[in-house]
Amino acid sequence: MITNTEPGKLRIGVVGLGLMGSSIVVALAISDHPIIAIAPIKQDLEYAHNYLSEEISHCASAGILVQSPEYYLSRITISEDYADLCDCAIVFECVVEDLEIKKRVYQNIQQSVPVTTIIASNTSALPISLLQSFVKNPERFLGIHWAEPAYMSRFLEITCGDLTKKENAEWVYKLAHCWKKEPTLLAKDIRGFITNRLMYALYREALHLSESTGISLQDLDKCLKYDAGSWMTFMGILRRMDFYGLNDYYTIAKNLFPKLSNSNQIPKTMQEVLIKDFRGTKNGKGLYEYQDGDAQKWEHSFSQYNKDIYLLADDFPYGVIQKHLDDNGF
Ligand SMILES: NC(=O)c1ccc[n+]([C@@H]2O[C@H](COP(=O)([O-])OP(=O)(O)OC[C@H]3O[C@@H](n4cnc5c(N)ncnc54)[C@H](O)[C@@H]3O)[C@@H](O)[C@H]2O)c1
Repeated sequence: MITNTEPGKLRIGVVGLGLMGSSIVVALAISDHPIIAIAPIKQDLEYAHNYLSEEISHCASAGILVQSPEYYLSRITISEDYADLCDCAIVFECVVEDLEIKKRVYQNIQQSVPVTTIIASNTSALPISLLQSFVKNPERFLGIHWAEPAYMSRFLEITCGDLTKKENAEWVYKLAHCWKKEPTLLAKDIRGFITNRLMYALYREALHLSESTGISLQDLDKCLKYDAGSWMTFMGILRRMDFYGLNDYYTIAKNLFPKLSNSNQIPKTMQEVLIKDFRGTKNGKGLYEYQDGDAQKWEHSFSQYNKDIYLLADDFPYGVIQKHLDDNGF
């Protein structure tokens, strides 16, 4: 088992250089890992270099690089050849959410790496225990779920499958702190992991409210932006319950729970948009209307916003708040 946690000495592989794969390459490269970036399709090869350069420039403009952008780019090898993964400590699979494609990719990876190499999937929803069944030596397989942009978000969800060796997950958990993440470690493979469980409960209730009461999507989003958005990144939801006091919880929950949606059907609004092949900003048609160029404007603004919130979160990590409380005798 690998125990080293010095990024500079650990080569890491990423297979799949789409939206998330590229972003993960950058997150790991700026943490000082030498990277092998495998492009499984031609399109990746055409765009990867420019895309990675743009993302590293974004990191430079945010002031989060220790070395020059050229230094990090020079440590990323883009290749079509899985054999280049041969001395990687971890290989991240980051290809489309398609079981058959992921299965083929694991075959290619395991033919090229030693049995000690950790293999991780960035899947959003496929069960880790199922993916693990396609891999020889399944004890080295786990889910490592990043959030976009991977190089500028604190989120990292590590999930064990039924056969994952606990020590492997704990090593990744430790290493993830070198990537400036605030990782979670889920020892049990539950459907949707943590974040999608919470988000899909919220999506269901938001769409249920819109369908049953006519509340506009704009108003629902406003509530989340200006209420939850103002405290959630600071304290999460459970500490927020403590912060506001727990005395009303019982009465509110008793009256409100029977009114919440517990439907296991896809909400009508989503059925309607999915049947029309609306894919959101990806094709300019979604729950909202988009004009030409709107998707790029959202992407640009989100990238600026991410930078600001990433830097702001640096000033308020949990440890600093705890120290402030300790220093002031709370
Ligand atoms: N987009 C997100 O915000 C997000 C967040 C968390 C997890 N994920 C997960 O990350 C993974 C990748 O998502 P993405 O958003 O980067 O997708 P994407 O569509 O941007 O990229 C998909 C990549 O898959 C690879 N690919 C496509 N067809 C292939 C084939 N036939 N054979 C081998 N490789 C092929 C290519 O590298 C392609 O660039 C998925 O499992 C997704 O669920 C995505």
